[in-house]
Amino acid sequence: MYDIIEKKRDGGELTREEIEFFIRGYVSGDIPDYQASALLMAIYFKGMTEEETATLTMCMANSGDTVDLSSIPGIKVDKHSTGGVGDKTTLVISPIVASLGVPVAKMSGRGLGHTGGTVDKMESIPGMQTFLDRERFFDIVRRVGVSVIGQSGNLVPADKKLYALRDVTATVDSIPLIASSIMSKKIAAGSDCILLDVKEGSGAFMKTVEDSIRLAEAMVSIGEHVGRRTVALITDMSRPLGNAIGNSLEICEVCDTLKGRGPADLTEICIELAANMLFLAGKGSIEQCKRMAEGQLRNGEAYARLKEMVAAQGGDIAVLDDNSKFRQAKVHHEVYARQDGWFYAMDTEKCGIASVELGAGREKKDDPIDYSAGIILKKKVGDRVQAGEPLAVFYTSDSSRCAQAERLFESAVTIRGEAPEQIPLIYARVTRDGVERY
Ligand code: URA
Repeated sequence: MYDIIEKKRDGGELTREEIEFFIRGYVSGDIPDYQASALLMAIYFKGMTEEETATLTMCMANSGDTVDLSSIPGIKVDKHSTGGVGDKTTLVISPIVASLGVPVAKMSGRGLGHTGGTVDKMESIPGMQTFLDRERFFDIVRRVGVSVIGQSGNLVPADKKLYALRDVTATVDSIPLIASSIMSKKIAAGSDCILLDVKEGSGAFMKTVEDSIRLAEAMVSIGEHVGRRTVALITDMSRPLGNAIGNSLEICEVCDTLKGRGPADLTEICIELAANMLFLAGKGSIEQCKRMAEGQLRNGEAYARLKEMVAAQGGDIAVLDDNSKFRQAKVHHEVYARQDGWFYAMDTEKCGIASVELGAGREKKDDPIDYSAGIILKKKVGDRVQAGEPLAVFYTSDSSRCAQAERLFESAVTIRGEAPEQIPLIYARVTRDGVERY
């Protein structure tokens, strides 16, 4: 291990054997944290070649259980988002693509900090089971075409250990380490193709378009290196996606969007993401796939597919058809604009933290969640506002949480006398052929 650290410290390229030695030894406990930390820091400063990054990813992907989806017919396409506020795209696009014959066997995560998680949103539906054994998961994908569950089993233990170490050694922020961490989990989850939604902006991990593109390029390169077709879209997270933030509130917005009456920004991103998944599955050009995806919203087939998936996973579909059947938050609290002007900018991360404060998310891994809590935005960046108009409605079961959430929300909003520049929703598409800017 000493020689491996020294080689990377001096800018050398690690061999497959050296990377395998490190991952195997670190997962088994033979290599101590202090040596692993030193190597991570050397990687942070010296970087890794595409070859090294792909090898690291595969060693991590193979460090625990892997999912073999080959018994499910068809080209399976997975999707990963780097996380954001109000990002409910998985629950919109998975039924769209499944209703067009592309199977989706997806493992999602829980929310942490300012970002939400698909599993929490699904669990706001009464009865919904998100932890299924492998056979039942596969059976639902075969019968319904789509199942979304939480990650179970011993998937990528190398990432769990390394991520915890990176978190306390200031080495999270390294493109080869982030790319290998994300891609190892996607590769272990077994799909043939991977669509990445790399978020950019105040609510995202990557704060600039150029950094997001560099991360996307690294992940696309890994996927293509190891035989998984991979495409990435760079999408905006300088404002929350849609109007709803919070678990059952977001499920209501998912239903609206699948019925063709969702917010314009969410609908546009979902159509683009779904079209790219369909494209990866060989269903046609991006333009053809977009039209197909739009058609599934109009004809109700995508919404019907969501209901089938929810029913198959034990969820109560009555709340989808009639959203008033969701358990309602006791407190509804309006937040008003203090001045006239334009909604100029939003600190999306702070807005996400305000929703956590209301009970919609968790600060620590095991904190409980209030599924009915959250925020409905009444105004968004680019809108004109008048003093006294509602900017948002807060939902919570605990009125004592409103004051702090309101302080945070107000500090997240900038209102000015001038209109902001129009920000695109999608900045770029990264494929093995290069970067296409929108
Ligand atoms: N998300 C991950 O899964 N891994 C990282 O390293 C960063 C974000």
